[in-house]
Amino acid sequence: MNSLNISGEAGSSEIFLNGKLDDLNRFIKNRKTCIITDENVHHFYKDQFPSDIPIIVVPAGENSKTIESAGSIHRKLVELEMDRGSLLIGIGGGVITDLTGFVASTFLRGIAFGFAATTILAQVDAAIGGKNGVNLDGYKNLVGIIRQPEFVLIAADTLSTLPREELVNGMAEVIKCGLIADIELFNILADAAKNENPFKHTDLALVCGMAAKVKVDVVNIDVFEKGVRRHLNLGHTLGHAIEKLKKIPHGFGVSAGIIAAAKISIKEGLISKDVLKVITETLGGYGLPLSYNITAADAMDAILKDKKRKADKINLVLLENIGKATVKPFGFTELENALVEALK
Ligand SMILES: NC(=O)c1ccc[n+]([C@@H]2O[C@H](COP(=O)([O-])OP(=O)(O)OC[C@H]3O[C@@H](n4cnc5c(N)ncnc54)[C@H](O)[C@@H]3O)[C@@H](O)[C@H]2O)c1
Repeated sequence: MNSLNISGEAGSSEIFLNGKLDDLNRFIKNRKTCIITDENVHHFYKDQFPSDIPIIVVPAGENSKTIESAGSIHRKLVELEMDRGSLLIGIGGGVITDLTGFVASTFLRGIAFGFAATTILAQVDAAIGGKNGVNLDGYKNLVGIIRQPEFVLIAADTLSTLPREELVNGMAEVIKCGLIADIELFNILADAAKNENPFKHTDLALVCGMAAKVKVDVVNIDVFEKGVRRHLNLGHTLGHAIEKLKKIPHGFGVSAGIIAAAKISIKEGLISKDVLKVITETLGGYGLPLSYNITAADAMDAILKDKKRKADKINLVLLENIGKATVKPFGFTELENALVEALK
């Protein structure tokens, strides 16, 4: 298995590409271990989990990523007599990796943890980079910590059971990674997207590995999101707003957000209409939505409620080319005006 490394102030992490759930055994190293997973992943893969290890199964979905559910897992860890030398393994999508990382980082002031990532979104984004958190009172990721998992196994062998909508949802982040930093990745995806069923023509282990590398490289430069890590937010400022307003999956909002960011990039004289065309064809080819019917005023309102807002400017990620992103601060009125055009 090829692996990548993250190291920095928040700890170090080894990310294993194109892995199998069976590989998990090698990370346990005689430690007292507990697995956290959700009911869907448990249903499909329990027989491939490392044997003779207690398993905590939570309901599938975002509602399990709360401070209450973290608290109830903490209590189970006490019952299981987990100690400072113990290991927690989260097997699942981003909900499970975020929850496991948060629980492990707060139990006994921090025990070791690792992940087997089983959704595209977790494999290229959520499991990598050390951001662990839970939601509070409807606000996403409001309580959390940056701390690296000891290992991340990209469980490529689990994607075959992922529902179609989750595959499509995750592809938004894969395409985004190509757009911000890897033209070769983007070109592979753009070619596959020309087919009627692009997933048939996509080597998911390969493209998820390439996208994971983009995230690893960015996090290695900027673990605390002060500079280049912001590039990972391409499409996310508007994407989060649409996600909230329309109650749609994250990747769908990001896709429409990328299109709006590309339109604003044209307006700023950074890219040509041809670049927007190929981005549109690639996102659309994978079944991702390109726009939603919302007004610039509503979008702005939702953006301003987002916790990532800083001072009186909003940093928007734009494209200078395929494979190259940049950040431009916008005043509120300036951004709303730009959105009037970009949301058309
Ligand atoms: N920490 C970060 O940096 C970061 C980055 C991006 C997103 N996130 C978080 O990730 C979460 C979303 O992650 P997600 O999209 O993976 O959601 P998820 O974990 O809810 O998984 C989506 C669905 O797929 C099911 N599933 C998972 N693996 C499966 C498999 N192999 N086969 C069949 N079904 C499977 C799950 O049970 C669930 O129903 C959000 O909470 C988001 O905030 C975190």
